[in-house]
Amino acid sequence: MPATVIIGGQWGDEGKGKVTDALSEDAGVVVRPNGSTNAGHTVVTDQGIFKFHLVPSGVLRPGCTSIIGAGVAVPPADLLEEIDMLYRRGVTTDNLFLSDRAHVVMPYHPLLDQYEEARRGSHSLGTTLRGNGPAYVDKFGRRGIRVADLLDESALVEQIALNLPEKNALFEHLYGKSGLDAKKLLEDFSAWGERLAPYVRQTEVMVQDALDGGQRVLVETAQASLLDIDYGTYPYVTSSSPTAAGACQGAGIGPTQVDRVVAVFKAYTTRVGGGPFPTEDPGAAGNLMRERGKEFGTTTGRPRRTGWFDGVVARYTARLNGVTQIAVTKLDILDEFDEIPICTGYRLDGNVIDSPPAEAEIYSRVEPVYETLPGWKEETSGIDAVHKLPANARRYLDRIEELVGRPIIMVGLGPARRDLALR
Ligand code: GDP
Ligand code: IMO
Ligand code: MG
Repeated sequence: MPATVIIGGQWGDEGKGKVTDALSEDAGVVVRPNGSTNAGHTVVTDQGIFKFHLVPSGVLRPGCTSIIGAGVAVPPADLLEEIDMLYRRGVTTDNLFLSDRAHVVMPYHPLLDQYEEARRGSHSLGTTLRGNGPAYVDKFGRRGIRVADLLDESALVEQIALNLPEKNALFEHLYGKSGLDAKKLLEDFSAWGERLAPYVRQTEVMVQDALDGGQRVLVETAQASLLDIDYGTYPYVTSSSPTAAGACQGAGIGPTQVDRVVAVFKAYTTRVGGGPFPTEDPGAAGNLMRERGKEFGTTTGRPRRTGWFDGVVARYTARLNGVTQIAVTKLDILDEFDEIPICTGYRLDGNVIDSPPAEAEIYSRVEPVYETLPGWKEETSGIDAVHKLPANARRYLDRIEELVGRPIIMVGLGPARRDLALR
């Protein structure tokens, strides 16, 4: 059976965790292909609220295998903490596996992230400070330490001896901070390696075996297309490829093995951190979205910037990722609005443009062209099918479909697993 890829269609936090949970009911495998603990995916079930940073949301489905793929950057202590949290809450991780090719976020990576953000001053990117960027820099610089190295002490000693002098030189001479101790690093890592060893596998082979065996494989991408290293609002992006193509790479799947790409779009837009956001509403409407939508970061607790649905971004994402279906989340947050503007195009220096420009400085100058739709002013929670939604809510969804050119298959009407209207 072919694979399904779930992607974020905006700037992250669209509700990918919730949509993955919904689609994982009959899945054999759920794979996280990219990112690190910069991601925070929320799933709300009868067992309470789960916030996943590394573990795929499918872990809550007893029959499902959960895989942290080769494209992920993993801080071992955080992964162990997440596993312990699940254990305490009665969720088994017996079916959780970690790719031996995944890179390790070393203790010096978050420090580099913090010091570099501070050094950039007013040009800081607003990263999550989790060391994601520096870990991928080392990966692509071919000096990264991988999960496989944690299981082999002599490889680890060699890798630390190779890496630490460079990091310590930066700490001491560029950032004016003290360096790290190789002996302490080795001690910590030997202990972490021992605990993680039972989870480590050649996961790309497991994914291929599952596909060959007729199982449904779901790929739960972290971040989102407008944070993509190539197609996002560079340099205000993350350091991996959260597109469907990037997700395939991180999971170990070829493009011909995917038959469904589901884009998750929030019914409005949010963004955390710096960078262009044309439909941002810093006024009363934006505040109402932030309050009603509890728009504070799952990972960092930072208030999210809020604004209207951006049809230009959504259409761009749909095309870039070969999206076949859409999941719209948080429609319920708009229940109280009298009118709902929706962005249908951008104006730049007097011309109309229909895709995000490459340069952040130019992108931050575009003016959104809005169309205003009437609100529905009715509570939508508890509605279980799209055709039962108020007429104006359906009209709003129809307009999103028209702008994006793909069908909506589900609509989120609350945080819980059951708060979902299907089509
Ligand atoms: P992700 O990173 O894409 O998985 O999204 P996050 O978990 O970071 O942020 C989404 C937030 O919205 C979480 O707090 C979810 O519990 C919540 N959420 C998801 N879908 C809905 C929905 O349809 N309605 C409401 N009210 N909340 C939702
Ligand atoms: P999920 O998977 C929202 C943003 C950060 C910052 C930029 C770079 O939960 O949707 P990084 O730490 O990756 O170097 O930060 O990317 N960012 C996210 N924003 N959701 C996320 O993940 C994010 N992961 C990174 O806020 O602007
Ligand atoms: Mg999130």
